[in-house]
Amino acid sequence: MANLDGNIEKVLVTKEELEAINARLGAQITKDFEGKNLLVVGILKGSIYFLADLTRYIDLPLKLDFLAVSSYGGGTRSSGAVKIIKDIDIDLAGYDVLLVEDILDSGRTLEYVSKMLSARGANSISIVTLLDKPERRVVDIHPDYVGCDVPDEFVVGYGLDYDQEYRNIPYIGSLKREIYE
Ligand code: XMP
Ligand code: MG
Repeated sequence: MANLDGNIEKVLVTKEELEAINARLGAQITKDFEGKNLLVVGILKGSIYFLADLTRYIDLPLKLDFLAVSSYGGGTRSSGAVKIIKDIDIDLAGYDVLLVEDILDSGRTLEYVSKMLSARGANSISIVTLLDKPERRVVDIHPDYVGCDVPDEFVVGYGLDYDQEYRNIPYIGSLKREIYE
């Protein structure tokens, strides 16, 4: 089926709900980071739609940078190994870093990245994740801001992919099992 919607089992977070999440988190972040030296660091590629929409609700001066790490490859389960594929360009000294992630699953990616960045002299490291699968956590990591929890299903859309596709769906949905099994 050529139509992307045809491969979606269920819509989990609608376009309107995503908008409300971004407005709520943006207002909270604006309050919390007032007077700070904000550097927003997006984890590529999954966070790009979320980062673009969220930062439009942050009413503060800020800078953007991006980091790419290896994660799932073509599958639907984390390998556990984290590798930096593209590092940030900005020297972190003196910045209050806000890491932006699409989904927090085992927590290994964010644990690795936040430790690596805090070792570089940032003032502070905070974490915002659009989605959280709390029951899947294997490391002790607590995001500062969460859009919403999702069940332990493979989800796509709004930046999240299956084998690099489906990122451009404007909502979050679960993928039909027959697509990835
Ligand atoms: P960890 O386990 O390190 O994983 O917290 C975080 C990364 O895994 C990817 N991930 C998913 N990607 N649908 C996706 O498209 C999912 O349901 C999903 N669960 C985890 C994601 O890239 C995240 O950065
Ligand atoms: Mg990701």
